[in-house]
Amino acid sequence: MHTTTAARGGIASRATRLVVAALLAVATVGLLGVTASDASGSRGRLDVKRERFGTMPDGTVVHRYTLTNARGMEVKLITYGGAIQSLRVPDRHGRRANVTLGFSDLEGYLNPANPYFGCITGRYANRIDEGRFTLDGVTYQLAVNNPPNHLHGGNVGFDKRVWDAEVVRTDASVGVRFRYTSPDGEENYPGTLRTTVTYTLNNRNALRMRYEATTNKATIVNLTNHAYWNLAGEGSGDINDHELRLNASRYTPVDATLIPTGQIAPVAGTPLDFTRSTRIGKRIRDSHPQLLIGRGYDHNWVLDRHGSGLELAARLKDPRSGRVLEVLTQEPGIQFYSGNFLDGTLVGTSGRTYRQGDGLALETQHYPDSPNHPNFPSTVLRPGGKYDTTTIYRFSTD
Ligand code: GLA
Repeated sequence: MHTTTAARGGIASRATRLVVAALLAVATVGLLGVTASDASGSRGRLDVKRERFGTMPDGTVVHRYTLTNARGMEVKLITYGGAIQSLRVPDRHGRRANVTLGFSDLEGYLNPANPYFGCITGRYANRIDEGRFTLDGVTYQLAVNNPPNHLHGGNVGFDKRVWDAEVVRTDASVGVRFRYTSPDGEENYPGTLRTTVTYTLNNRNALRMRYEATTNKATIVNLTNHAYWNLAGEGSGDINDHELRLNASRYTPVDATLIPTGQIAPVAGTPLDFTRSTRIGKRIRDSHPQLLIGRGYDHNWVLDRHGSGLELAARLKDPRSGRVLEVLTQEPGIQFYSGNFLDGTLVGTSGRTYRQGDGLALETQHYPDSPNHPNFPSTVLRPGGKYDTTTIYRFSTD
């Protein structure tokens, strides 16, 4: 009995020792694992990796770069259109979700119905009246790809090009520099435009985009990123409960074809007043003529700027998840588009369809159709000059 008890006790204590040893071993391996992956830069700090995303019909390989930081933010960029394909950020409880609309594969992006998900739009973001403008006495006719107007650079704009890419790193950021040279006459725009768009991510959950361009002939240029946001997660429903603040007391009203009339009008007293944080769904069904034309919000707001540096343009919040997106820019305007043309015919990244209002775009820009409005800030770029403008998408929780 004694012996048995002693023997049992002996077995028990040996078992305990084995368990303790095993736990210690697991803990040690775990610690080593963290240390090892930290040392390789794949965890706990800024990192970038590249993989193949797909192949274009002509055989060109499209790559995807994944940027990660120490705060759990992850951004996936593809060389097709220089697009943000996925962007994951934590909510107020640390749960991550992909907050940008997109597709899971290249075929989705190549679909002619792709509504510019996440891409760089150029050479001229948004519309040009009937695709025509005159510069230094010469009239240029661009593609009328959104009848009766020109939209987002034409039939094969910057969103449909495969960009060259290189990784860029600093002590405080990691990123990708995309390059595309648009030859003189491409899409009927004058001048060879050498374009660089550099995305960088830091540990403060800010994704910075710097757009640079030079030309060898006078031309026009207006670049932006066309990401659609849904801070509750893409494919989770509409953005009507998101709260939006725009630092803009004026906007550029549009005609029936979404071309600015040339007027710069106050937002006060209209459903376009977002000077105070307002639920998007609150007034989206108002019968204001501008909302009827746009089928919702699809307008350029004139930012209340103090200088030419980076200034806060927009603050978007999803009250349920607590996710907040702030947009800072050097641009004079921002297009708030409430995803009005999404109609349930596209299957998004997570396999769910996108319906009207399931995402919204906040496109920092010069005003649409500026080449035809001398009272708008100029979008002309001349040889020797440099187009150089930065926009930041900064994420946090509230
Ligand atoms: C911009 C325009 C919209 C629409 C989308 C793309 O935001 O302002 O009218 O064309 O692009 O679908």
